Amino acid sequence: MNSDHKESRDRTIGEFVAEDYRSAQVFEDYDIDFCCGGQKTLAAACREKSLDPAVLLREIEAAKNAPGEASEDFSSMKLPALIDHIVVTHHAFLNENTGQIVAYTRKIAEVHGGRHPEVIEIAAIFDQIEADLVGHLDEEEKVLFPAINRLSEASRDETPPTAEDRAVIRDSLTVLHREHEDIGDAVHRIRSLANDYAIPEDVCNTFKVTYGKLREFEDDLHKHVHLENNILFPRAADL
Ligand SMILES: [Fe+2]
Ligand SMILES: [Fe+2]
Repeated sequence: MNSDHKESRDRTIGEFVAEDYRSAQVFEDYDIDFCCGGQKTLAAACREKSLDPAVLLREIEAAKNAPGEASEDFSSMKLPALIDHIVVTHHAFLNENTGQIVAYTRKIAEVHGGRHPEVIEIAAIFDQIEADLVGHLDEEEKVLFPAINRLSEASRDETPPTAEDRAVIRDSLTVLHREHEDIGDAVHRIRSLANDYAIPEDVCNTFKVTYGKLREFEDDLHKHVHLENNILFPRAADL
C-alpha cells in the first residue's frame, strides 16, 4: 500500500482528474486548483496546503467508488468527439451566460457599489473576461479545433499531417495555455473579492443571482479548462 501511495503522490492533479472526473470534487473541497494548477503533483499541492496526501488519496478512491453516475471517460474519447463535447457543452454555456453575467455584475456595481465597493472591481474584471473570451473561443473554434480535426483524420487515414497544421497547433497551444492562466487568475480574483460568494445581508435578489451565476461560471470554466489543458491539448500536441 505504501509503495502504491508513494507512486500516486507523484502523479499530477490533472492526471487524477483526467482519469476520473469525480476526483475533482475532492480537490475542490480542499481548494486545490485542478485546471490551471493541474500540472502540480499531488505531493506538491498537499505540501503547499499542509495536507496529508494519504487522506486525499483515500477520499479520491472513495469518490471513484461512489455509486451514481459514472464519470464520462473523456481520456479515451476520440479527439473530434471531445472537441464536439467542449463546443456544445462549455462554449455554448459561455455563449449563453457571459453576456448576462456582464449585465448583472454592472447592475449590482451600480446599485450596491457604494456599500460594497468590491462589486465595482468584480464588474470591471468580468468585463475584461468577456472581452478576452471572444478572441479565445474564436482561436479555438476557427483555428485550433479544425487543425486538430484535420490531423486526427490524417492519422486515421495514415496520411502524413501537413507541416502547416502542425505549426498552427504548436503556436495556438502556447497562446491558449497562457490565456487559460489569465482567465483562471481573473476568476479566482473575483472569488476572493466576493469573499467566496458569501451574500451580504443588505443586498437584493439580483446580487444573490449574480453571485450564484459567477459561481456557476467558475465551476463550468474549471471543467472546460481541465478538458482542454489536461486532455485535449496534450493529445493534440502528440498528433
Ligand atoms: Fe474552450
Ligand atoms: Fe480554452
